[in-house]
Amino acid sequence: MTNETRIAIITGGSRGMGRDAALRLARRGISSIITYNERRDAADNVVSAIREAGADAVALQLDVGKAAGFGDFAAHAREALTTLGAERFDYLVNNAGTSSTATLADGTKAELDAQFAVHFKGPYLLTQTLLPLMNDGGRIVNISSGLARVAFPGRTVYGPMKAAVEALTRYMALELGPRGIAVNVVAPGAIATDFSGGVVRDNPDVNKALASQTALGRVGGPEDVGPVIAGLLSDDFGWVNAQRIEVAGGVQI
Ligand SMILES: NC(=O)c1ccc[n+]([C@@H]2O[C@H](COP(=O)([O-])OP(=O)(O)OC[C@H]3O[C@@H](n4cnc5c(N)ncnc54)[C@H](OP(=O)(O)O)[C@@H]3O)[C@@H](O)[C@H]2O)c1
Repeated sequence: MTNETRIAIITGGSRGMGRDAALRLARRGISSIITYNERRDAADNVVSAIREAGADAVALQLDVGKAAGFGDFAAHAREALTTLGAERFDYLVNNAGTSSTATLADGTKAELDAQFAVHFKGPYLLTQTLLPLMNDGGRIVNISSGLARVAFPGRTVYGPMKAAVEALTRYMALELGPRGIAVNVVAPGAIATDFSGGVVRDNPDVNKALASQTALGRVGGPEDVGPVIAGLLSDDFGWVNAQRIEVAGGVQI
């Protein structure tokens, strides 16, 4: 690392697991550029919470499904880094995502294209765009899903897209190794957030069914995943590279 102020860029840092990871990093003195897509209010709340935790943050709008905007985003990120007292950043968390409940029978070309744009093309091209701004020796965490390993009804588009991110993680690790950048992928199980209409959190039947398939007997919360993301970015995990870590309480084992 070359700068003293360590900075993370976390896509989808306004809510859910990205928010929790940003707050965990703040408690370790790491500042963040968090992105939001539509919920500026939620992002502003996270920025305030990060400051209360003793670090600093800037919130930037980003639609990870629209790669044409990544050049502008990089320019805004460069300005945000200046605000945070750094020229470059150290950690990238490709976390932002949306769900899809398509089956093989009803999945459309439009849904395939949209999910590909958000879950694969987005992390691929955003990482490519931001790499010149990233310090050598930095770390990347991509976010997959337990549904990349386990087939689940209605996830024929979403699950395979996340599987692609897991493969991409190994290719990123291979190509970024010479810069000392480690790349790992976190695969959360069912997590009680707003994701997919909040179904894991708010639908008691779904929540109970998923808990019953989990060795530790419950679904997860953002507070179960954020520390793992923050941990993987810490020096303690410096020799962990190109790994998939499922954070799911032991689901469908
Ligand atoms: N929750 C689960 O059960 C679960 C399980 C496994 C994996 N995951 C994955 O974990 C990641 C985070 O999920 P979560 O549960 O924390 O989600 P969440 O609570 O729904 O939060 C989603 C975050 O992503 C942002 N976002 C959504 N669409 C975006 C887009 N097109 N461009 C940029 N940002 C966008 C949202 O911004 P706004 O606030 O502006 O809307 C928000 O910050 C996703 O990749 C998801 O696929 C979730």
